[in-house]
Order: sequence, then structure tokens, then C-alpha cells
Amino acid sequence: MYRTHNCGELRISDSEKEVSLCGWVHKPRDKGFMVWVDLRDRYGITQLIFDEQRSTKKLLEKAKGLGREFVIKISGKVIERSSKNPNIPTGDIEILVSDLEILNKSQTPPFTIENNTDGGEELRMKYRYLDIRRSPIKEKLIFRHKVSSEIRKYLTKLNFIDVETPYLIKSTPEGARDFVVPSRMNQGEFYALPQSPQTFKQLLMVGGIDRYFQIVKCFRDEDLRADRQPEFTQIDCEMSFVNQEEVLKTFEGLVKHLLSAIKKVSIEKFPRITYMEAMSKYGCDKPDIRFGMELGELNDVSKHKDFTVFNTAELIIGIAVPNGNSFTRKEIDNYTSWVRRPQIGALGMVYVRCNDDGSFKSSVDKFYNQEDLSNWAKITNAKNGDLILILSGKKHEVRAQMSALRLEIAENINLRNPEEFAPLWVTDFPLLEWDEESKKYHAMHHPFTSPKIEDIKLLETNPKEVKANAYDLVLNGNEIGGGSIRIHDKNIQSLMFKYLGFSKEESESQFGFLMNAFEYGAPPHGGIALGLDRLVAILDGSESIKDYIAFPKNNSGKDIMIDAPSALNKEQLEELCLALKEQSE
Ligand code: AMO
Repeated sequence: MYRTHNCGELRISDSEKEVSLCGWVHKPRDKGFMVWVDLRDRYGITQLIFDEQRSTKKLLEKAKGLGREFVIKISGKVIERSSKNPNIPTGDIEILVSDLEILNKSQTPPFTIENNTDGGEELRMKYRYLDIRRSPIKEKLIFRHKVSSEIRKYLTKLNFIDVETPYLIKSTPEGARDFVVPSRMNQGEFYALPQSPQTFKQLLMVGGIDRYFQIVKCFRDEDLRADRQPEFTQIDCEMSFVNQEEVLKTFEGLVKHLLSAIKKVSIEKFPRITYMEAMSKYGCDKPDIRFGMELGELNDVSKHKDFTVFNTAELIIGIAVPNGNSFTRKEIDNYTSWVRRPQIGALGMVYVRCNDDGSFKSSVDKFYNQEDLSNWAKITNAKNGDLILILSGKKHEVRAQMSALRLEIAENINLRNPEEFAPLWVTDFPLLEWDEESKKYHAMHHPFTSPKIEDIKLLETNPKEVKANAYDLVLNGNEIGGGSIRIHDKNIQSLMFKYLGFSKEESESQFGFLMNAFEYGAPPHGGIALGLDRLVAILDGSESIKDYIAFPKNNSGKDIMIDAPSALNKEQLEELCLALKEQSE
């Protein structure tokens, strides 16, 4: 038997027990006549002791030869420590070792295996298996496991069944680029890796599996950010014979269950907001509602003076920063420079100080009097002591700029508490969105999303106005899920493809299988997919998903540990018909 216990479980009540432990040498300390070793495994650290009086000479010598990260097995007796360590659960005891076996040696690791390591990101990624030995990473993986097992428990209880869908498929349009896989047996042809199992889960509904879920890898070739990886995991779900309300209720229940089981947080009901409201109140479709600072539209109270910047703007928006009047001039100037950075793209920023005596002092006092400024304060909900910041410009741009500024300031003045959870449903998304580049309408969610029945008539005349039965789940300003009620009628689906600019042939060749299925009794259905990586990270108080993934890609989409992607050799390329065979002489 390798071990009787793990390195995190022995206590003073185990004194005098003969035990065997296995693990990694965390820290050896050689005092000459005595050697202590901190032995580490997944569960914790236990101190081992070897000394001149109680250990054989041979054993003490062997202990002196131990290096960091050696893998060892020991047997010995649990004894009470003379100097206890209150910082670890096993701190009252140590093991007086009687037998030591070195299971494997280790080179000195390239960075310290400590909570605060000296290893930089690049090095830690190259030796990710060593990084995983560190508690902060290990704990995150354990946390992820807790979340996913609660998800399985909850959905299984509600009669959802876990069905696997294929990874080698035909491309599905979810808005990103596909990763493709060449087929050896069908030369010149390619599979695509799924951006999501969307069409398969709909086919499962046609197959009568009326409640499906899968915790599934999805692949999207898109630019990476802190909350995006090229391969990520969805909690993908679909239900038959449900309306939007039932889907929202079911998955609100899931997230409530996770918040309560894992974070001990109870939330009565998730607020809901329409897409249009979200855009006008917060400037974006995934607002962080842990704090206020809602956008106030100031067009009606600012276009009556000679200030050309505002007079020529499509939209003028202000926000009130709580207690922002305490910002120095330099701090305000820094925010002005921040919004002018090319990533944000504002031309300038107007500010109004709301003094404690009820008076105002603004950067546009030349144009606006106290009454004007007081109107701005009313609309932005500014109180004495606040600071109003105002941006203006084209509607879409200025909303995006203000939304970014709102988050930046909230972050800086600590309004984004990671221990607070503010979920939100955003509903009534537009069905279509105009893409300037291709000069075409794109499906805002995906082409299988059902328009609101009452809006179908607008498809011909005013496609922009058509709303979808689509919803997103937002948590602390992050989109953690999206879904919709689907089209289950072949004719409406064909119509959708037509409005999305697919020719009859294109829609037949890409989605013929789905349209055919719709001819064999497709039930009404709808669903959602939650991003597991994002959900786990946010529940754990972080917005970066990388550390919640055992082997993530770096910002250039590479796994530097295994060196992927990498070139194929000539023979492989030829076999896949991706390189021309050399002409034989
Ligand atoms: P959607 O494209 O909104 O919907 O994806 C669902 C959720 O997946 C997460 N997500 C990502 N997480 C990490 N890295 C990425 N690159 C990434 N891309 C998306 C987000 C997102 O909300 N088939 C539909 C769902 C449906 O209609 O049922 C879909 O995939 O949290």
C-alpha cells in the first residue's frame, strides 16, 4: 500500500498511529543533527522529522539527500510537535519517519512551488504541471469541479440527460471563425470543430430527448481576451415544449442553486431588462448592476446654447460619479486622456463638479448656467459631492465609450466587489444586426433563433426592428450565457436564411439536414448555453478564465508547453492532401 492517509488529514487525535504518506518534498530543512521535511500532496502539508536520536544513521543520511519536489513514500509514527504551526490544519503533529522510499527524483523546479511564486506567466505556462501543484491553481481546478458537479446534480434532478454530440462536424454559424480539420479519407474535404452543439441539440429535440444538457468543449477561432479562450466549455442545454419564461425559470434556478450551494448567497429573483433599456441605461448589453452610475441622456437639456460640440452630437450622455467631486483636477484630466485613447475613441470629456452647497462648477461654464447644470444633475441623479462626466457623439459610439468609462471608474473607486453577485437577464434582443463590412444582416444570436411572432411581419419592411425570443444571462457585467426559443418550422427557417442573405442552394447545402428534420415533427423548443469557464471564474471572484482551465492557451492561441499549434511533417501533409507530392524522377 502506498499510503494510509493523505498529507492534509492527520491531527493530534491520530498520535501514536503508524501511517504511510506519499507526496512531494515541499521544503527540506537540514539542521545537521535533524532534518525536517514538509511533505505536500493535493490535500495539504505534513511535517516529517528525522533525527540523530531516533532515526538510523542511514535514514538520516537518506533524508539529507532529498531535494525539492522529490516524490517520496514514508512510513512512521504520528507524534505531537514541540513547536506547533497554527497556520496549517496538520500543524499540531509531525511524523517520526522510520522508512523512506524515494519514488522519483526531481530537478530543481524553474520557479518556486509556493502561493506567491517567483515564476512569470510564460514560465508557469511552459511548466503548467508544476504550476498546478501550487495551491492557487489547484484550488481553482477543485472549485471548477465543485461547480460542474453541482450543475450535473441540479440538471439530472430536473430530468435533463447528458448526451454527447460529435466534435468533427460541419461548420455552424455562431459568429466566430471555425477551426477546421482536414479529412484523410475524404481528401480535399474538411470537418469543422463545433463552435457550439447548437444544431445537434436541436436535432436531439426532434429525436424526442426533451431535456438535454452537456458540459462540452466548444471551439472558436477568435481574438483572445481575459474572458475568451479558443477552446472553452459550455453548459449546453435544450428543452422541448417550453416557452421563454420556462427556460429562464429553469436556468435562473440553476444559477441560484450554484450561488447558494457554493457561495452561500441567496438571491430572490434575478432582475430583467430589455436589450433597448440596457443600451440606454448602461450603454451595453451586459451591464454590471452591482453599482448605479446609470447613463443620463442630456440632449433635451443641452442643445439650446452655443456649444457646437453638443449641438452637433447625435447623443449626449452623462454619468454621476458618487463622491467624485473629491477627484483632483489631475485625476479628471487622466480620465479625459483615458477616454481619448484609440481603444475608447472619445474626442473629449466635459465635467461638472457638484459642490456640497448645491452649486455647480463645470468645464463648460462659458456656455451653461447653474440652471442648466442643475438639470444635468437631475437627469444623471447626481447628488451634492458627486462629479458628472459627459461624453457626446454618435449614438452607438458614445454609449460604448460611456459604458467603458463607467466600468473603469467603478473599478478604480472599488464599486465592483467580487464577493457581491448581481445577475441580470437581458431580453428582447434584436433578431438581426447590420454588418457594415459585408453589407448584410447577421443574426444577432444565431440563425435558428425565433423572431417574436408579432414582429414577423416587419421582416420585409423593417428588419432592424424585429425582436427575437432571445435572452442573455449577465453576472457582474459579464455575459455568462445566451439562448433563445428556436424556429421549429421549416418555412420560417427558410425565410430567416433568405433574410440573412443565403441563397436557396447555400441554405440547402449548409442546413439541409436541419430543414429536413423540421419536416418530421420538430417540437417547439428552446434553450441556453452558459460559459462554464466564465461562470466558475466569476463565482470565484475573478474575471480571467485562464487559471480555471487546466491547460489554457496563451494570448496568441498557443499552448507553449506542448508547442501547439505546430507544423506537420511532409508525409502527414501529403496524406491529408495539403501539400503537393514530390514528382518522382
Ligand atoms: P453563445 O455564443 O452566446 O451561445 O455562447 C454561450 C456562452 O459561452 C461563453 N463563451 C465563451 N467563453 C469563453 N471563451 C469564448 N471564446 C467564449 N465564447 C462564448 C459565453 C457565452 O455566453 N449555441 C448558443 C447557445 C444557445 O442559443 O443555446 C451559443 O453558443 O459565456
